Amino acid sequence: MSGPAQRPSLSGKILTLDPNEVGQVGMYKLLIGGVLPRPIAFISTISSEGVTNLAPFSFFNAVSSNPPCLSVSITRKNDGSKKDTLRNIEATRQFVVNCSPAWLVDQINSCSAEFPHGVSEFEKVGLTPAESARVRAPRVAECPLAFECELYETVEIGDGSQGSSTLVIGKIVAVQVDESAIRDGKLLIEQLEPLSRLGGLSYGLTRDIFDLPRPKTT
Ligand SMILES: Cc1cc2nc3c(=O)[nH]c(=O)nc-3n(C[C@H](O)[C@H](O)[C@H](O)COP(=O)(O)O)c2cc1C
Repeated sequence: MSGPAQRPSLSGKILTLDPNEVGQVGMYKLLIGGVLPRPIAFISTISSEGVTNLAPFSFFNAVSSNPPCLSVSITRKNDGSKKDTLRNIEATRQFVVNCSPAWLVDQINSCSAEFPHGVSEFEKVGLTPAESARVRAPRVAECPLAFECELYETVEIGDGSQGSSTLVIGKIVAVQVDESAIRDGKLLIEQLEPLSRLGGLSYGLTRDIFDLPRPKTT
């Protein structure tokens, strides 16, 4: 095997943890500490009243390229109510997934504060809403990549109590990309500098990159 990683010294003794005994908070900690690194969707939406909203989500991934779809899981607030992003997506059936460049980490992190419904995080953190091509929700002008999405499907996970979530699947209807960040149809990671979410309050940078060819089937 080739690869740059050093194997740590592991004990070899395996603990079996039962989710029912670990409980919701413990399972949340195991998920955020074990599903690593997680990309961050910086999601912009607009309410039916026209107020824009912006928040980061790391329970996020690509789902399919035909149709092109992304998924994000939005957890209930501690009081059981829905976050503004979910309320807006359900009301308008549209949202924009902006990329999360490392140079915007302070603004991205600040947008995770619980601002009252009706307050726009764009203004609070000093980011610029730019008109989208196919959806009403604006994209973030400072982000070099954005996926404009229409709601494809929502899946309710859990009974609405703490930790329950709504899995939102969005179909991409337009991609907005800074010209300098794409060449021959390939996105350039050095122009995107993607942040990732790690366990606890940690963020990661994507810096140690190496290529390995896929094995040929014999
Ligand atoms: C890096 C980061 C990742 C986050 N990921 C998620 C997530 O995947 N799901 C979620 O429900 N909340 C997540 N949050 C918390 C939301 O951003 C936070 O609840 C925010 O206030 C929601 O805003 P809204 O009410 O305007 O939608 C994350 C916060 C940070 C800082």
